[in-house]
Amino acid sequence: MIATYTETQGRVLISPSILSADFARLADDIRKVETEADWLHIDVMDGMFVPNITIGPPVVASIRKHTALPLDVHLMIADPDRYVEAFVAAGADLVTVHAEACTHLDRVLQHIRSLGAGAGVSLNPATPLTAIEEVLDRVDLVLLMTVNPGFGGQKFIPSMMDKIRRLRAQAEHAGYAFHIQVDGGIGPANAREIYVAGADVLVAGNSIYGDADPAEACRRLRGLACES
Ligand code: DX5
Ligand code: ZN
Repeated sequence: MIATYTETQGRVLISPSILSADFARLADDIRKVETEADWLHIDVMDGMFVPNITIGPPVVASIRKHTALPLDVHLMIADPDRYVEAFVAAGADLVTVHAEACTHLDRVLQHIRSLGAGAGVSLNPATPLTAIEEVLDRVDLVLLMTVNPGFGGQKFIPSMMDKIRRLRAQAEHAGYAFHIQVDGGIGPANAREIYVAGADVLVAGNSIYGDADPAEACRRLRGLACES
């Protein structure tokens, strides 16, 4: 299980995305961030919901054997309810599904929690916050995509900064305690502004694995985000 927002409040959590790692040397690349990362972000793509294909439950099960980090599994797949059980059985601590990919979002989120994992819901950049308004009282995390999902190394969409602010304000107003995670184009240049806007979990692929020293890149991101 992942730590709750209440447990980690005041801290920034770094979740390196292995999408930018070397898939043929995955265990080595995970070890590089093990001591500095809070979670490990695993991007699952099906070639339907997004125009790319990555990995499935067997790879998650193999990763589980090589790291003690909580596994943060981001499902960019159509009708994800079909696979949540397989990913939790493989070792996912948090399963995040896209609101756009679920006909019965509430049912899928309940299903994830019933399996003992944290339940996350994600929105593409063009999907308004109102799409998840009715489930906000029962999610562990909201993932705001800050690029269009499918690929690493894209540019942060500037208007997402205000979306983060509005979601944090909404959570504070209602007294909800979910993590706000952001994913896409996060790096040293925008980490501070994103954290101040209200996101507490930063996913980063290219800015961590594109660095010669991924552990140092995690440290730097955390320091920049949380500096006072
Ligand atoms: C994109 C994925 C991201 C990706 C982010 O669809 O969900 O997790 O790895 O990559 P960067 O940090 O390189 O933008
Ligand atoms: Zn992701």
